[in-house]
Amino acid sequence: MERDAHMAEQTTYTFITRSVGETQRLAETIGKMAEPGDVLTLSGDLGAGKTSFTQGLARGLGVPGVVNSPTFTIIKEYAGHLPLYHMDVYRMEDMGEDLGFDEYFYGDGMTVVEWPQMIAEQLPPERCDIVITRGDGEERTFVFTPYGSRYQIVCEAIANEHPSN
Ligand SMILES: Nc1ncnc2c1ncn2[C@@H]1O[C@H](COP(=O)(O)OP(=O)(O)O)[C@@H](O)[C@H]1O
Ligand SMILES: [Mg+2]
Repeated sequence: MERDAHMAEQTTYTFITRSVGETQRLAETIGKMAEPGDVLTLSGDLGAGKTSFTQGLARGLGVPGVVNSPTFTIIKEYAGHLPLYHMDVYRMEDMGEDLGFDEYFYGDGMTVVEWPQMIAEQLPPERCDIVITRGDGEERTFVFTPYGSRYQIVCEAIANEHPSN
């Protein structure tokens, strides 16, 4: 775990994983801490691990069954201890089109958004942005930027549970 204070601006938290299982365990920690109205965004190229990460969240939330990329659907809902709302807005025709996202963002579950830049204007100001980059082989770097105290607490907790990073 690395914690950088950027010019008195946003603190970021960096985690490195070396397998899909490690990515899922990292995400599972977050799923277990989920509270209604939590919003996470996931950015990264195809194959970075956005959906794998979401599968870990689902496990932490106690969602039974399989979570896949919502290829032809923009939003998929899964029932766990809290609902998980999985959005993949990559194929949204009209950038900025409002499909009632606030119902999810401020709803009773955890929302995770793949390709958040497609709906940048509509994202809630309090959220955690996660950027994934590929390294050699199975290495993936996750940079978390928390906006708001709720997400700072979450990041600190993950850092405590995954100190080896
Ligand atoms: N450390 C890792 N974390 C996540 N995925 C990994 C990792 N190493 C290898 N992979 C592989 O990379 C792919 C990630 O795919 P996926 O999660 O669907 O990405 P995305 O949703 O970003 O397109 C999977 O085939 C997975 O097995
Ligand atoms: Mg995906």
